[in-house]
Amino acid sequence: MASERSIQTSEAQIAVHWKEEEYVLPPARFVGQANLSDPAVVERFSEKHFPECFREYADLLSWDHYWHTTLDTGKPPFWKWFVGGRINASYNCVGRHLAKYRNKAALIFVPKPEDEPIQAVTYQELYTRVNEVAAVLRDFCGLRKGDRVTIHMPMIPELPITMLACARLGVVHSVVFGGFSGEAAGLRAADSGSRVMVYADGYYRNGKATDHKASADIALETAAKEGTTVEKVLVWRRHHGKSLSTTPMVQGRDYFMDEVLKGFRGARVDPVSMDAEDPLFLMYTSGTTGKPKGCQHRTGGYLAYVAGTSKYYQDIHPEDVYWCMADIGWITGHSYIVYGPLALAATSVIFEGVPNFPDAGRPWRIAERLNVNIFHTSPTAIRMLRKAGPDEPRKYNYRFKHMTTVGEPIEPETWQWYYNVVGKREAVIVDTWWQTENGGFLCTTKPALDPMKPGSAGPPALGIFPIIYDENGQPVSAGSGRAGNICIRNPWPGIMQTIWGDSDRFVNQYYRKYCKNPDSKDWHDWPYFAADGAVLPADGYYRILGRVDDVINVAGHRLGTKELESACLTVPDVAEAAVVPVVDEIKGRVPAVYVSLKPGISDGDRVQHQIVATIETMIGKIARPKAVHIVPDLPKTRSGKIMRRVLAAISNTIDTGDVTTLANPDVVESIRKLVQGEGPVVLKDAPEDVKLFGAE
Ligand code: WTA
Repeated sequence: MASERSIQTSEAQIAVHWKEEEYVLPPARFVGQANLSDPAVVERFSEKHFPECFREYADLLSWDHYWHTTLDTGKPPFWKWFVGGRINASYNCVGRHLAKYRNKAALIFVPKPEDEPIQAVTYQELYTRVNEVAAVLRDFCGLRKGDRVTIHMPMIPELPITMLACARLGVVHSVVFGGFSGEAAGLRAADSGSRVMVYADGYYRNGKATDHKASADIALETAAKEGTTVEKVLVWRRHHGKSLSTTPMVQGRDYFMDEVLKGFRGARVDPVSMDAEDPLFLMYTSGTTGKPKGCQHRTGGYLAYVAGTSKYYQDIHPEDVYWCMADIGWITGHSYIVYGPLALAATSVIFEGVPNFPDAGRPWRIAERLNVNIFHTSPTAIRMLRKAGPDEPRKYNYRFKHMTTVGEPIEPETWQWYYNVVGKREAVIVDTWWQTENGGFLCTTKPALDPMKPGSAGPPALGIFPIIYDENGQPVSAGSGRAGNICIRNPWPGIMQTIWGDSDRFVNQYYRKYCKNPDSKDWHDWPYFAADGAVLPADGYYRILGRVDDVINVAGHRLGTKELESACLTVPDVAEAAVVPVVDEIKGRVPAVYVSLKPGISDGDRVQHQIVATIETMIGKIARPKAVHIVPDLPKTRSGKIMRRVLAAISNTIDTGDVTTLANPDVVESIRKLVQGEGPVVLKDAPEDVKLFGAE
């Protein structure tokens, strides 16, 4: 029987109740065919063999020139991997597979409208299209190695084709999630200094076509305000011969890709041999200050890490049909739809739609039709599908051998439904913990070798050596029952190189907190601070508790509190704004907004609507707040700092703690009544990230 026990967090000394779950063994049918079935791998990747163990991953790739030094730690924490090596990522994901897999599907595109035919793109076709697009980028746009391109596109095959075309030239791509607004894309384009942006004319959302080209115009205007001129916009048309957009094309700036491509039919472009340390792409993510940071990923180390982890943890074999339901606009899509799977010659499914449209049977119909046997999604999608169609999976005849969950902690109840109903008790599950910054998995079970434990990410990935520190830099030992900050002691090939254009911020954000000696050239002195809370029981299975900084994880997507607050402050009548996370049954967390208005403003309803609209325009619909509260004043410390912790407590009906030291303690009670009503309330419990939110 599972036992109840109570643990203490190191920082706030808040008790959480954590039920230890029982282990579940990997199904024998899975174990028999797994890529990673030799337990000796643990010894091969032990600290004794670090960093040379990562050769095993790099050797999955085809190098133009083999490297001479596996890891160079000369300038901490700017690690260099596979130094002296030369490689092209696009060649590794496409060209090199032609000899054996020319006629095998590389991508299978499942359009959102269910009556539209599914398209398979073979490796040969992918090769042809990537080459033609590379020719457009090089010869029509004048792009060269090291230039940046911002790609703001929905989930259509042209998105990975454009990424791989960039990689073929050594052009650094920066993909912005298609659901983000034109403003968000424009800011990111300006930060990266992109002269070219790539768009789709439109895409489908909630059954309706959306004009996406309109976002391009806003993006360019935004970039221009930031001082960056985007010279060309390439626009892919979603449908042959017709457009989903009515926004006019600007002459001499905007070009339909199908028209430009006519001049490049059959073009071939030699892959540019890149230094292993040349950047492959940027991926912007929210951080602790307003401005999103461009996580810069290297070519050789990143590709080696995603290829290795795709092979061992996703268990991808070329004959599998692999479907990761994430969006390519997030890191999961980069690493585990595009680069990792394609490096292994996988067949990777790209789904344009959302899981529960037109109904919660859609994913299972796709799985049945395509014979998908590896499935990868997030707890949010699982919760949503469970709520909308708890019995749907039983109606369809598919068989998964392997399933992944990623992006947020998964509750054991949700895990059990995933295992029993979606996986039909035949599929192994890996709960993979990692971040945009990390390139690939950091904690996960080895699917054929380790038992699963619902709700826990599990042991560290091969070659990863985590440690939990308390706020004073003291290690928190396994089985102590205390939570703390999870850090990774060592460098690994998938870790980002730096923040684009801001290496100070890179060092401050990830390494300063626990650096033992800033002058040291020894990696042991430079633990990576992940900004997630975690606990480690005696069995070595890490349980991730959520973010400890002010980032709100909505449906597995990180939104910066400050970014949301600055959006609110662009509404002219708003005086002050604070954004906090609210627990949501489906999405995990959603933002709640608190604002005080400028003197003399009385029509709060109008301002509320303006705030919602502004957040949707500046950041995207994904950030839509659950509530906008107009309050007389925000709770503040005597030094004037807004106490977000108190607001998070009110929004989640948990204890606000001691507020007597605030500059304005009385305001807390009036805000509480406004949000929770006049009557008595029963306090609830909340996850750690909510309890610790905004705590200093
Ligand atoms: C959270 C997504 C618990 C965590 C790959 C992390 C998780 C943030 C898990 C990174 C998991 C991700 N269990 N929490 N399996 N996976 N997280 O950058 O808080 O979009 O810091 O990368 O998501 O989100 P990001």
